[in-house]
Amino acid sequence: MSHRILLLPGDGIGAEVLEAGRHVLDQLALARGLSINYETGLIGGAAIDDMGEPLPADVLEAARRADAVLLGAVGGPKWHDLPGNKRPEVGLLALRSALGVYANLRPIIVRPGAVDRSPVKAEIASGTDILFVRELTGGLYFGDKGTEGDSAYDICRYSRHEIERVVRMAAIAARQRRGKLSLVDKANVMETSRLWRAVTQEIISRDFPDIELEILLVDAATMHLITRPRDFDVIVTENLFGDILTDEASVLTGSIGLIPSASLGASGAGLYEPVHGSAPDIAGQGKANPIGMIESIAMMLDHSLGLPTEAKALRAAIGAAMAQCVTVDLGGTASTMDMARAIADQLDRALALA
Ligand code: NAD
Ligand code: IPM
Ligand code: MN
Repeated sequence: MSHRILLLPGDGIGAEVLEAGRHVLDQLALARGLSINYETGLIGGAAIDDMGEPLPADVLEAARRADAVLLGAVGGPKWHDLPGNKRPEVGLLALRSALGVYANLRPIIVRPGAVDRSPVKAEIASGTDILFVRELTGGLYFGDKGTEGDSAYDICRYSRHEIERVVRMAAIAARQRRGKLSLVDKANVMETSRLWRAVTQEIISRDFPDIELEILLVDAATMHLITRPRDFDVIVTENLFGDILTDEASVLTGSIGLIPSASLGASGAGLYEPVHGSAPDIAGQGKANPIGMIESIAMMLDHSLGLPTEAKALRAAIGAAMAQCVTVDLGGTASTMDMARAIADQLDRALALA
């Protein structure tokens, strides 16, 4: 069986980390005799420059045909002055929406051997293992937006259905982990948050009585995340809060360059992308940490390709490589491709042990 993977490098360091990921995936495919059928497409600024739009129709078609989509990052200063609905980021949002990937899984794990990379004290950061489940296709990102004279608006709207399906996915994940779910909202101010709270409480008490539900307001949650991160297991939250909180939580690990994501829906292709952006400040210098991309590939092996043993081996190879090879964001000198090669070099050993 051949796995169909669509590669979307995008902009800035997106292309650099995707090349590194491809290097590791090719090595894995070679070692395991996997057959992978790659297609490549344009998205974001690169697609605007070439095709005049951030998500060309044939790229979306290729995404729908694929088993999985691997995406680098989109955006950059070159396109900042375009009107809101023509920017690179719109291509990514349209792709997420069209694929129906309503749940964005963002694991934040401080590996035992990498606690000293965290700017947070070791006694606080060590043992952190949080799975964020960010709602990805609703809320402020997708509500009506516009400008009227000197005013502008973005409408935040959520339906019971949109909340229910993502909360269920988060609760199922919690059941497979440590059995705790934290809902982060702003129910003291927002109607949408009050709906999130009511629907979540109803689903958990009715269908997941074995799950411990904790509810936090988002402003306080930003503090608890960096003062007592070990207390969290699965965190479910709306689109915008999930975007912001996961960048904050990435700091616990030492770098946003380490954080992967998987975006999943009811069926169809999964979308896999690191949490970071196109990093214009370091683009073209070989300084990008590719681990967020490579960890995203491990999530793809688990969730879309049905290869859990390979996923486990890849994670072990990343851990072993991190002990020897340190990228610039974490205080070392290794380049993007040095890191990819170090991980690829560990694969055979990791596969033998997996
Ligand atoms: P960013 O995540 O690109 O960068 C923030 C900081 O983190 C920068 O200092 C950058 O150098 C560093 N960084 C990011 N990834 C890194 C990596 N892999 N290795 C080492 N350091 C890394 O966020 P930004 O600067 O606010 O945004 C830049 C552009 O990226 C914007 O146009 C934004 O819209 C876009 N963006 C895209 C995505 C995506 O495609 N999924 C995500 C976030 C931001
Ligand atoms: C992310 C990014 C995107 C988001 C942008 C680029 C649209 O910040 O994937 O975290 O806000 O979802
Ligand atoms: Mn973000």
